[in-house]
Amino acid sequence: MGRWRMNVSTMMFLVILQGATVVLFCGWYFQFSPCNNPANQNHKVHVLLLSSWRSGSSFLGQVFSQHPSVFYLMEPGWHIWRNLQKPKNMLQIILRDVFRDLFRCEFSGLEAFMPPRSNVSNVFMWSHSRALCSPPACPLTPRGDLSDEHRCSKRCNVSGLKGMESSCKSYSHIVLKEVRFFDLESLYPLLQDPNLDLRIIHLVRDPRAVMRSREESFSALAYDNSIMVDRRAMPPADLQFEVIKKICRSHVLMIERAMLKPQPFLEGRYKLVRYEDLVHNPIGMINDIYQFVGLDLTRKVGEWIYQVTHGKGIGSKSQAFKITSRDAVDVSKAWRTTFPFAKIKRVQELCYGAMKMIGYRPVNNDKDLKNLGIELLAPLEPYEFIWLPSKAGQTADKTKEK
Ligand SMILES: *[C@@H]1O[C@H](CO)[C@@H](O)[C@H](O)[C@H]1NC(C)=O
Ligand SMILES: *[C@@H]1O[C@H](CO)[C@@H](O)[C@H](O)[C@H]1NC(C)=O
Repeated sequence: MGRWRMNVSTMMFLVILQGATVVLFCGWYFQFSPCNNPANQNHKVHVLLLSSWRSGSSFLGQVFSQHPSVFYLMEPGWHIWRNLQKPKNMLQIILRDVFRDLFRCEFSGLEAFMPPRSNVSNVFMWSHSRALCSPPACPLTPRGDLSDEHRCSKRCNVSGLKGMESSCKSYSHIVLKEVRFFDLESLYPLLQDPNLDLRIIHLVRDPRAVMRSREESFSALAYDNSIMVDRRAMPPADLQFEVIKKICRSHVLMIERAMLKPQPFLEGRYKLVRYEDLVHNPIGMINDIYQFVGLDLTRKVGEWIYQVTHGKGIGSKSQAFKITSRDAVDVSKAWRTTFPFAKIKRVQELCYGAMKMIGYRPVNNDKDLKNLGIELLAPLEPYEFIWLPSKAGQTADKTKEK
């Protein structure tokens, strides 16, 4: 009997000793060991940065891309739109399925829309992804350093797409930026997929500023416009307005789905971000956004954001990233002094619902438009949805998103 008791305590001791050894061994052997913490290898966060053209998504995309824990791709949907002209609702489904694969670091779906034997350099805007300029994809930029898209496009020469896959698999956060989704419903299967931990960041910008910026880059957007709107049906001057109307409508649809009557699986997974708020308080907003997806602001990324938003941009000087050249707040208001009131008025009419919902105040005349002392940005929260007749109390609670 005594012997048996001794055996039990010996065994217990051995079990405890073994447990302690495993814990110590895991900690010592490899910091990122799977036996250490589920947050590292198995648990990945998937972020969809949803936006529209000319809404500052290149900037916010870079904010993710430069982070050492992020694998980023800028608008992979470009490949699908280039190669598949289909009715838009069908495109959404195909796009969604390709994105599901991309979030799992599987690139064969995307490859199907690319030229045969494609290389990393065939991926749309590949050099905007810091991860594709860092090991294991390319030796140029050590992880934790900031990437320069121009140096990368000259110095990184990665053949095939294998490098992209191993790179993707080595990050905790997969961030895809896309401007080609126009509703949330087509993304519901991704939100409900137990293999994904999807967070949606919906970046919006004042449609009047978007309109002005779109006019400047009319030819660059011509192809996308032709998919958005049946071009033959209308003169080019009206086309721009038709596109902005569709964009505004998609904002309303998405915000309604996410905040008015949200499905339970949307809880904690959708965040609306206004470009103007981002520009006014970049570090504060970015901290907020990082927190939403479980990233910490690193010192280097923080310094980079400060420089980029205060006219001391380093690296990228491309069209899409104009924010580098001047003070971001000035840039965000430039449309008010350079865009004719008649056009503003038309955008305000087409986008009435979206502007009201997102907190962009209309102007009534040219004088008010050009008077930058008049603030056109209304506070975004708390949401006004409390006033809605149906199930008011319930929706009010749910709309207080973080
Ligand atoms: C990829 O690179 C290989 C070798 O560098 C080249 O032969 C091939 O044409 C490239 N593929 C494409 C689609 O450009
Ligand atoms: C990349 O590699 C291909 C084939 O190996 C070569 O033809 C091309 O010039 C290289 N590009 C750069 C930028 O080094």
